[in-house]
Amino acid sequence: MDAFARHLLGWFDRHGRQNLPWQHPRTPYRVWLSEIMLQQTQVRTVIPYFERFLQALPSLGALAAASEDRVLALWSGLGYYSRARNLHRCARLCVARHAGELPESIEMLAALPGIGRSTAAAILAQAHAQPLAILDGNVRRVLARFHGVHGWPGSSAVQKQLWQLAEAHTPRSRVADYTQAIMDLGALACTRSKPRCLECPLRGDCIALRDGLTSVLPQAKPARQVPLRTTTMLIARDGEGRILLERRPPVGIWARLWSLPEGLDAEQARLGIPALRNNQAASIRVLPELLHRFSHFQLRITPVVLEVASAAAHVAEDGEQGWFLPGELGELGLPAPVRKLLGSLIEESNPCEQSTA
Ligand code: ADE
Repeated sequence: MDAFARHLLGWFDRHGRQNLPWQHPRTPYRVWLSEIMLQQTQVRTVIPYFERFLQALPSLGALAAASEDRVLALWSGLGYYSRARNLHRCARLCVARHAGELPESIEMLAALPGIGRSTAAAILAQAHAQPLAILDGNVRRVLARFHGVHGWPGSSAVQKQLWQLAEAHTPRSRVADYTQAIMDLGALACTRSKPRCLECPLRGDCIALRDGLTSVLPQAKPARQVPLRTTTMLIARDGEGRILLERRPPVGIWARLWSLPEGLDAEQARLGIPALRNNQAASIRVLPELLHRFSHFQLRITPVVLEVASAAAHVAEDGEQGWFLPGELGELGLPAPVRKLLGSLIEESNPCEQSTA
């Protein structure tokens, strides 16, 4: 056993999670069920579901014999329901092909629906003490930091490197505890943000800690290049500080939210609004640009403030446009960048008052 595993197990004996319901007893069925439930969900949330599920369907045979509806009902509230469907399919496949047992070979286990290499290894390490390495999100983070592995862990080169490191550290003895220990370290100490390095048993040799890189590693997925769109948003404000908003169309981005009038430039935006067409602006001011990211494009917003002298009474008749006081904005559904923009503008006008936008 290397120093990494030794230090980790020493920590696990003092601080690790040793009273999880699937650890007592650690049967293959219980460990399998727990690992599937834990795939996208935290331990704390899983525990009551695990216990209820196990009481209703205490064995792989019972699960295989149950209807899919029953399984989904027991899963109800845990989310990611394909996990439940796959679990059920797995149970039936095990009855049909593996004499009603979960296979004990990693290849056969990982060939079942919903069981990847890491989940298969976690099941076999815990249920059968097979010295197999796991690599879930927590373990990736621990290893990337400890070894100072740069690059995005989802890329195949980094993934390969992390699997090699995971295998190199996995001990031949106490592998069930080691598997739980490395997941617990990632969940309890080597957390994504604000890791508790002072409590970490690996701090003496951690490269990320030594080099001040714990907030950088593991590296995020490189941002995809997305097209840039530009728009001008018009912040028309009347003499009483009211701001003109209009409701967005029912489809597309920000559907049905209240937003600012837009155009290619301030003049076009203004001319598109009957309330402003005949209303001479007292002043026009261009604010700094704002960049807002969507998944499939970026929006560069040029905000233009148009102070209109008189209270602008004319709005569209359909109720899809209106003048709103700053205090009324809190009630409205506004797109995030619009809320931010109006918030800073209102704060600028009333530096002592708390903005409600
Ligand atoms: N995530 C996946 N398996 C887990 C386990 N056994 N304990 C804690 N988190 C986990």
